[in-house]
Amino acid sequence: MDKIRIRGGAPLSGNITISGAKNAALPLMAACLLTDKPLHLVNVPDLSDVTSMAELLTQLGGEVDFKKAAESHRMTLCAKDLSSTTAPYDLVRKMRASVLVLGPLVARAGEANVSLPGGCAIGTRPIDLHLKGLEALGAEIALDGGYIHAKAPQGLKGATFTFPIISVTGTENLLMAATLAKGETRLINAAREPEVGDLAHCLNGMGAKISGIGTDTLIIEGVNRLEGTTHHVIADRIEAGTYAMAAALTNGSVRLKGAHLALIPTVAALLQQAGVELEENDDSVLVKGPSDRLQGVDMMTEPFPGFATDLQAQWMALMSLTEGAAMITETIWENRFMHVPELCRMGANITVHGSSALVRGVQQLKGAPVMATDLRASVSLVLAGLVATGDTLINRVYHLDRGYERVEEKLRACGADIERVR
Ligand code: EPU
Repeated sequence: MDKIRIRGGAPLSGNITISGAKNAALPLMAACLLTDKPLHLVNVPDLSDVTSMAELLTQLGGEVDFKKAAESHRMTLCAKDLSSTTAPYDLVRKMRASVLVLGPLVARAGEANVSLPGGCAIGTRPIDLHLKGLEALGAEIALDGGYIHAKAPQGLKGATFTFPIISVTGTENLLMAATLAKGETRLINAAREPEVGDLAHCLNGMGAKISGIGTDTLIIEGVNRLEGTTHHVIADRIEAGTYAMAAALTNGSVRLKGAHLALIPTVAALLQQAGVELEENDDSVLVKGPSDRLQGVDMMTEPFPGFATDLQAQWMALMSLTEGAAMITETIWENRFMHVPELCRMGANITVHGSSALVRGVQQLKGAPVMATDLRASVSLVLAGLVATGDTLINRVYHLDRGYERVEEKLRACGADIERVR
């Protein structure tokens, strides 16, 4: 199994090009199921989660052609004829975002059988809201043998659905389903994450009639059919935030090409409070570490535009070297502190109290062998390794490959001493 070895200490300096967003690409790929025409996606990141989604779409009868070029990967997806409406356990358990095929399949084929995703490392992750929303649109849902069986033989009907709590993929599933429903659908308390907006824009490019994009109320006027289109996937704000924190931690200076502060408003504000300099130009953000020590800044994760939970572990690595202390509160996932014991093994001083963690800044982290437990936890260990004295060896890096494209290459180009070992 691959490992990553990092020798810390070098301040990062140079340019990093931000890839297309994983969490935008996955629903966009699933949207190909809504039409028999080709969907062209530009700026698709080359990640194992993208490969898993492509495998699932192929299983359903779609054709996926992924052309990887140095700067901009292009993917053409075409689900001319659906050969199956079943998303099997073996594929869904590998990647929970597989549940994103549920809405499009019911809308286009009138039925879907999708394995229940089950729990995962960061929380129980129920999908009850996806199912309640589809029921509101007229689907009949039954759970049997570990599968969701959804049926709408006469097609879906527009309705108003209010999310009791904000769900990103729940909003995306219902948004896709509603595009082909009869009449108007209103999704209230919808997720406002930029990836939801990106999906809505692509669907409109395919002929859907969605308004309210970027707000918490999405209004969808159903249409009879959707066409193909070409769509550019937005930049990965989580990748941008991660490398911004890497630059800050190592007291470096890194230009993030393709990054936009509007996609990480709260993260940007908190980085500045911690003493990090951010300078936005046309299509890049220059991040510079503080002239003095980083300051401790409290943080709470929240749905967009709040601080993204997918940057919580990285913020914790950053806060572990500050002057003073920081309270970090996780409000989205109930089990997303698995990086804490690993960071502590590297010398961080962190105590967890329920859903909050108190991080007391230390002068120095020390390299150690550590274990990656999920995607974002893994990258927080990479950040810690970049600034620690000596060698850090990160085990189980397959988690990283799910969401970070060419991570060693990008960091090495900025002077990091990092390599993959087998
Ligand atoms: N929830 C329910 N019922 C539902 C759906 C969600 O109770 O039917 C709860 C969840 O248990 C959680 C909260 O609502 O406590 C938010 O979950 P959400 O549905 O928004 O999460 P998701 O859509 O499954 C996406 C991202 C995650 C990211 C979360 C929160 C994708 C493919 N995944 O997950 O990304 O953490 O939104 O922003 O978009 C990652 O990339 O590392 C990652 C985990």
